[in-house]
Amino acid sequence: MRTIIVTGASDGIGAAAADMLAAATEDRLVLVGRSPDKTRAVAQRLGAEYHLADFSRLEDVRRLAHTLTASCPRIDVLANNAGGIFDGPIRTEDGFEKTFQVNHLAPYLLTNLLIEPLLASGATVVNTASIAARIFSDVDLNDLNTWGAYTPNRAYGNAKLANIVFAKQLHARFHHRGLNAVAFHPGVLATSFATQTSGMMHRLYQGPLSRLLASPETGGARLFHFITGQPGQDWESGHFYGDNLKPADSHPQTRDRRFAERHWELSAQMLAVRWPDHGETPRDH
Ligand SMILES: NC(=O)c1ccc[n+]([C@@H]2O[C@H](COP(=O)([O-])OP(=O)(O)OC[C@H]3O[C@@H](n4cnc5c(N)ncnc54)[C@H](OP(=O)(O)O)[C@@H]3O)[C@@H](O)[C@H]2O)c1
Repeated sequence: MRTIIVTGASDGIGAAAADMLAAATEDRLVLVGRSPDKTRAVAQRLGAEYHLADFSRLEDVRRLAHTLTASCPRIDVLANNAGGIFDGPIRTEDGFEKTFQVNHLAPYLLTNLLIEPLLASGATVVNTASIAARIFSDVDLNDLNTWGAYTPNRAYGNAKLANIVFAKQLHARFHHRGLNAVAFHPGVLATSFATQTSGMMHRLYQGPLSRLLASPETGGARLFHFITGQPGQDWESGHFYGDNLKPADSHPQTRDRRFAERHWELSAQMLAVRWPDHGETPRDH
């Protein structure tokens, strides 16, 4: 029996994928959400276990990792799906910009703290990224938080670009030890996305135009594809995929290996974490 951890499982794409996983597999499902009521409701409906963590508090992420390490002898899939776009800039209690922390630093830390069981299980890490990485991003390595020239769209695009380069770096550093990592764009979907921002994205996702968007289930099915698919057969580790489930191009920075390595190092420094020795020079696929 495989163990599958899905963050952002209380709503939207994550909840839809959890529904499909519960219906289609015998796997052990471990759901992670922020809202206690919403997360409990999904977990009870599916008979799945759940944990709570607010990714704008890194102490919650550390506690979550500790609980998961203690309760999961193996971890076959970690789906880093929680995220969103927020008005800001907002400084979290950890000192980072909220959009960057919730979308990138928190899953980076969670993956780091779980890396030993992930490696031991030959796991898959799936990052829910976005086409916003190509449209809105322009990462300044001297300002990963996007404190400067802040707009919700730019901060979000930069954070989703981080999801892509993080997956590529996980692949470059740990694929030879059996880890698979992938990032994908789930589509433009009528979920609870953009409820905590007030601009154009809020009007698109939460106004009348949202009727034109695809359903959360459509995005959930794409996440399900990467969670249940066979790496090397159904998708290739180290790639970014579009909503047609085909390898896709993104921002030029996602193709710059030195940029990706520096992004990885800076993220580790910000969180004061180390990674196990990967034993080889990082390489592309
Ligand atoms: N919808 C789209 O068109 C679209 C497009 C591209 C990418 N995405 C990405 O898809 C992922 C899922 O988004 P969605 O569309 O399903 O939106 P959603 O319905 O708003 O779901 C977001 C999920 O992330 C969780 N989350 C938000 N803030 C959190 C925090 N501070 N700590 C922990 N969890 C938090 C939410 O938890 P609670 O509900 O418990 O607060 C919820 O489970 C995100 O990474 C998003 O960036 C969405």
